[in-house]
Amino acid sequence: MKLKNKIALVTGGTSGIGLEAARLFQSEGATVVVTGTNAERLANAASVLGEGAMTLSVDLRDPAQIDKAIADVVETFGRVDVIFANAGAGTAAPLEAVTPEQISDQFALNFNGVFFTIQKAAPHLSKGSSIVITTSFLNEVGTPGLSILSATKAATRSLVRSIGAELAPRGIRVNAVSPGPIATPFHEKLGLSEKQLADTGSAIQAAVPLKRFGEAREIATAALFLASDDSAFMTGSELVVDGGLTQL
Ligand SMILES: NC(=O)c1ccc[n+]([C@@H]2O[C@H](COP(=O)([O-])OP(=O)(O)OC[C@H]3O[C@@H](n4cnc5c(N)ncnc54)[C@H](OP(=O)(O)O)[C@@H]3O)[C@@H](O)[C@H]2O)c1
Repeated sequence: MKLKNKIALVTGGTSGIGLEAARLFQSEGATVVVTGTNAERLANAASVLGEGAMTLSVDLRDPAQIDKAIADVVETFGRVDVIFANAGAGTAAPLEAVTPEQISDQFALNFNGVFFTIQKAAPHLSKGSSIVITTSFLNEVGTPGLSILSATKAATRSLVRSIGAELAPRGIRVNAVSPGPIATPFHEKLGLSEKQLADTGSAIQAAVPLKRFGEAREIATAALFLASDDSAFMTGSELVVDGGLTQL
């Protein structure tokens, strides 16, 4: 039981990587709080995780909603021990088609959402708490059509270092897990046509040295490592789980 009696907040815990992580954290003894925005996915997560889990509808682009969610968690459990700041989404667009709204929207979720989740929860974190942020292989490579999504992830990679430095004196660790291409609904939400999606999928698979997409569970296990005392001497770092895509 690597997370026995821990209160773990998983943002974007209603789908893909976050839902797998919530299930794994729960099986390791944690009480999990998961957030999302889609009512159907929230209901599904509630049924998968059972009565012991808390599900909260929170649009992370709105700091006031984050404020309320953290207040709800603290009122119910009194503290937070683990934050898996994982929610994220992207819109694909080439240089000439990117709009100011797309930039604001992606930064609002992927960067501001992470930042304000940590800022609001920080006063309630105990010594020994662990924060894990989901970055991406995209912060290491240039990918046509994904300039803004990639930049949001590079910004969160930087945040891991700065917030890590700020919270280290309190004994709180901050690390990132950096997924390669993972088989989740994420890709279907990028706004690509079916053909673009299929072509991109094949190209990515060919480029990954291990010749496949990763599974959500393979990121969840890395997140568990970072969330637990198994990684007690790690902070400010990024654990790359990408089938070798950015390393070989
Ligand atoms: N899949 C990949 O290949 C890949 C690769 C590198 C990095 N990542 C990163 O991994 C993380 C998880 O992605 P995933 O692959 O598991 O995708 P996913 O299955 O689409 O899950 C995304 C999660 O984020 C939540 N979310 C989306 N918009 C939100 C908003 N405005 N406010 C609050 N929550 C919101 C979703 O909840 P609702 O649907 O209920 O809103 C969902 O729970 C993301 O940060 C992504 O950038 C993924």
